Amino acid sequence: MSEAVKSDLEKVFADVASNYQGSDIDLHATYAKMRAETPVLEANFMEQLGVPSIAGVDPNRPCYTLFKYDDVMRVMRDSEQFTSGFIAEGLGAFFDGLILTAMDGDLHKSMRNLLQPVFLPETVNRWKEQRIDRVIREEFIKPMLPNKSADLMDFALYFPIRVIYSLIGFPEDKPEKIKQYAAWALAILAGPQVDPAKAEAAKKAAMEAVVALYDAIKEVVVQRRAEGAEGDDLISRLIRAEYEGRSLDDHEVTTFVRSLLPAAGETTTRTFGTLMVQLLENPDVLERVRADRGLVNKAIDESIRYEPVATFKVRQAANATEIRGVQIPKGAMVSCIVSSANRDEEAFVNADKFDIDRKPRPSFGFGFGPHMCIGQFVAKTEINCALNAILDLMPNLRLDPSKPAPKITGAQLRGPHELHVLWD
Ligand code: HEM
Repeated sequence: MSEAVKSDLEKVFADVASNYQGSDIDLHATYAKMRAETPVLEANFMEQLGVPSIAGVDPNRPCYTLFKYDDVMRVMRDSEQFTSGFIAEGLGAFFDGLILTAMDGDLHKSMRNLLQPVFLPETVNRWKEQRIDRVIREEFIKPMLPNKSADLMDFALYFPIRVIYSLIGFPEDKPEKIKQYAAWALAILAGPQVDPAKAEAAKKAAMEAVVALYDAIKEVVVQRRAEGAEGDDLISRLIRAEYEGRSLDDHEVTTFVRSLLPAAGETTTRTFGTLMVQLLENPDVLERVRADRGLVNKAIDESIRYEPVATFKVRQAANATEIRGVQIPKGAMVSCIVSSANRDEEAFVNADKFDIDRKPRPSFGFGFGPHMCIGQFVAKTEINCALNAILDLMPNLRLDPSKPAPKITGAQLRGPHELHVLWD
């Protein structure tokens, strides 16, 4: 990997984190107070924290922020009343093409039906054996072993990108290109800035990245189609996908794949990092999971409830309605605070405890309802493979006492930035 590209990726990851950091308050204590006192706030709470939010794309639209589990569930479930089409506004060229997250109604349903089979466990399990597990063990974990110490966030930054790019079907022999694509994908996330001094440059960089990624992906799509698209990779599967006689053209495959890059990389990075923090801070739980690998997925699910990386989701009210006695006008933005709903004491017993034995109940770390993350089996499988490889190959894994303790931060895109560990 070229050093220039590596530092580009690390720099842009840090830029994204600082952009979504928000003010330095105890978020969970604040949310507990909001649930008790103002469960429906007549304002954009993320704006108050200084974090960019798509709820603020049109400053003339009123915004309401929800903190309770039941209210967030109602909004996430009802995609007719609470729509997503507005997500395409304000992001220009990035939202040209097949962008599932910004589609509503029958169009979303038919596209989702077309794409869903490509992401089902049956496909993902085949990828797991043939690609995911091998890449994580051979290319990442085994080369780290002689050092007996690491910042696990270095590993976390690179492995999801490496895995997803392999699944997508990018040429395996050009690793420097993959790092470049990853830096471009992160530049898209750093696009919306609250600081006006940074806004113009960030938007320009995001737009350049959007175009560069399009050209790079389109080249591979055209090539795969010309070769007959018979492979097991995501691009070939998307080319072959069909629903009610409809299939995807090259532009649609390209724009869908491009939309996956920011969706699939650093979300997995931070989710893995947060899971490891919980386990390393609770060594008894770590040992239980090491001894019984049936607990790996429970630990992942609980970590996603406890500290979701995507801390809020926004929808727009299609009609006037009422939530907990508060009137929501037609066209208003509704911001659902997932981090708060996931700790709602009326939904979860001992909600502030990381408890892998808790009774399963839906939480919103991957969203919920029609737009629920289509890549969740991919993400969970990657994290499962990463944790299993670490447990198999790094005995006596523990936090490095000579380094700063890990901290989970960020009002949005939440997770740790450093995670220093030792093993025997
Ligand atoms: C741990 C990692 C991940 C997290 C936390 C995450 C989180 C989410 C969330 C919260 C949503 C819902 C958005 C909404 O309701 O508006 C979503 C949607 C989506 N995610 Fe993920 N995601 C992750 C990994 C992935 C991966 C690996 C892929 C692809 C391989 C992916 C592709 C998508 C797509 C395409 C959607 C849009 C679905 C739709 O609108 O119908 N995500 N994700």
